Order: sequence, then C-alpha cells, then structure tokens
Amino acid sequence: MMTGKAVCAGVMGWPVAHSKSPQLHGHWLRRYGIDGAYIPLPVAPDGLAEAVAGLKALGFAGWNVTIPHKQAMLDHVDELTPEARAIAAVNTVIRQDDGRYLGHNTDAYGFMENLRQTRPDFEFQGKSALLLGAGGASRAVVQGLLAAGVTQLTIANRSFERAETLAGEFRQTFSQVPSLVCRAVAWEEVPKAAGDVQLLVNATSLGMQGKPALDLKLDALPGTALVTDLVYNPLQTDLLAWASQRGNATVDGLGMLLHQARAGFEAWFKTPVVVDDDLRQAVLAS
Ligand SMILES: NC(=O)c1ccc[n+]([C@@H]2O[C@H](COP(=O)([O-])OP(=O)(O)OC[C@H]3O[C@@H](n4cnc5c(N)ncnc54)[C@H](OP(=O)(O)O)[C@@H]3O)[C@@H](O)[C@H]2O)c1
Repeated sequence: MMTGKAVCAGVMGWPVAHSKSPQLHGHWLRRYGIDGAYIPLPVAPDGLAEAVAGLKALGFAGWNVTIPHKQAMLDHVDELTPEARAIAAVNTVIRQDDGRYLGHNTDAYGFMENLRQTRPDFEFQGKSALLLGAGGASRAVVQGLLAAGVTQLTIANRSFERAETLAGEFRQTFSQVPSLVCRAVAWEEVPKAAGDVQLLVNATSLGMQGKPALDLKLDALPGTALVTDLVYNPLQTDLLAWASQRGNATVDGLGMLLHQARAGFEAWFKTPVVVDDDLRQAVLAS
C-alpha cells in the first residue's frame, strides 16, 4: 500500500514496454513491504532533457536508464561515478542528500557478480578471455573483466574498428597493468582466437529472440573454458546449449540483469535486498 510519502523511481527507455525492470523492482517492493513505486518511463530521444527536468522537479529518488538513453544521460546528471565515466554510459541515476543527481553504471558489477555467484570457483586473475561484441554492453564487460584481473582480453566484433577503438580505450584506462594484453581481432579470426581462452563471453545481440543466430565455429574452445551469454531471451541460448553439451561450464545472462538492479534499489529505497531464486522466478514468470 502506497502513502503520500511513497518513494518514486522507474526505468527510462524508448521503447520501454519490454523491460523486465518493473517486475524485478516490483518484486522487491512487495517482498520488503516498501512504501514506494517503480514505474516505466517511456521517453523519446528528443524528450530526454524535458523528462529528466520533470523527474527532478517531482523529487524522484532516481531511475534506471536503458536503450537509447544510456550515453545521453551522461550529460543530464550533476555528477558521475568512476564506473559511469569508465564505461561512458549511465544505467542508474541516484538522488543525493543534497538534491544533486549522481549518474552511475552497475552493468560491470552485474556482469561480474553473476559470474562470481554462479561459478564461485572461477578465478579471473591472470586469465585470458574472448569477448564477442563491441557495443554498449561490451564496454561494461571489458571494465568488469579488466578490473577483476583478466590480463589477456581479445575483442572480436563484426565491425572491426569498433573492437579496435574499445580495446585501445581500455588499454589506456588500465595502462597501470604492465602485463595486460587487450587487443581486437577480426570477426573471421574468432575460430582461431577461441583456442586459447579460459572464458568466452557473447555480448552481441546474436542469439536473441528475433535476431540471427550466433553462427561461429568455436570447436577450438578448450573444454575447461567458462561460457557466458549476455542474451537472456531465450535463457538457454544456442551458444549455452552447445557449450553445455560439450561439457563447458556455462552462466546465463539473467543474473546480470538481476544483480545490476541491486545498487539502485538499495540507494533509492534505503533497503538492502538479495538476488535469489525467488526473484529469478518472479522475473522469469513475467
Ligand atoms: N544480461 C543483461 O543484463 C544485459 C545487459 C545489457 C545487454 N544485454 C544484451 O546484450 C546484447 C548486446 O547489447 P548492447 O546494448 O551491447 O547492444 P548494441 O550496443 O546494439 O551492440 C550490439 C552488438 O551486437 C553486434 N551485432 C549485431 N548484429 C550482428 C550481426 N548480425 N552479426 C554480428 N554481430 C552483430 C554488434 O556488432 P556491430 O558493432 O558490428 O554492429 C554489436 O557488437 C543484447 O542482446 C542485450 O539484450 C544483456
């Protein structure tokens, strides 16, 4: 039951109807009996400045940001966290006690926490990884993996220049790591590059419902490599099905969505929450 003191937050995107965030946060609001609301905020690209001004005027505790506003939101907050700066995108906005709005990014945390909780034995330090994709989500993956101590990261993308730019940018960000090898390879090089890695990440939209399949020859991938897919619709992608069938450990993408949501919720509603199977089932049921 909401009162006049209810704390308000939401998710801003265009379109936003497909977002699972209202169900996710709604589950926590009900579970912890919080006097608050989390609503979808459909905002067209040309209405962003006006929408942000409106939410600030309404005293929203904050909001999540999804496609296509993650980069543009950098210019609409009063301050940025180091994570938002490194990833160059904002997915969570949090009102501070002084009324200023902080732009944060929890995607790298969500990605890493999903892997750590699902495969606690996997050690990142000194490991070698192959990342497929160089879009918005890939930036968070690169930040997460390099911060966790991965020292050899190969990025492959259909548009090679995008992979090259991403690799170069993060070589700069992590220039204090002398042993770091962060490089781009052409999409055609993936079958060869897969032969020497302990972690394979799909951060392209390939394999997602309504998108083409991820059609790559990955036979060289070691049987001991961990395979994860950011795509969570379907939950068991063809890549994950193929990997588990040949005995590789796998992690699906839903946990990333759940874990990235935590920091925002806890800051807005001042309540610690857990990511558990109840939450996963609630989101899956939606
Ligand atoms: N689990 C989670 O919480 C979570 C969070 C964020 C994103 N995601 C998922 O991650 C995926 C990527 O999201 P994003 O935000 O990074 O999207 P994005 O910025 O649009 O990037 C899309 C990526 O997919 C590649 N791609 C698209 N079509 C392709 C094709 N036909 N062949 C080869 N590569 C292709 C693009 O390559 P080009 O650069 O060549 O176009 C680019 O690397 C989506 O499926 C999204 O749902 C999941």
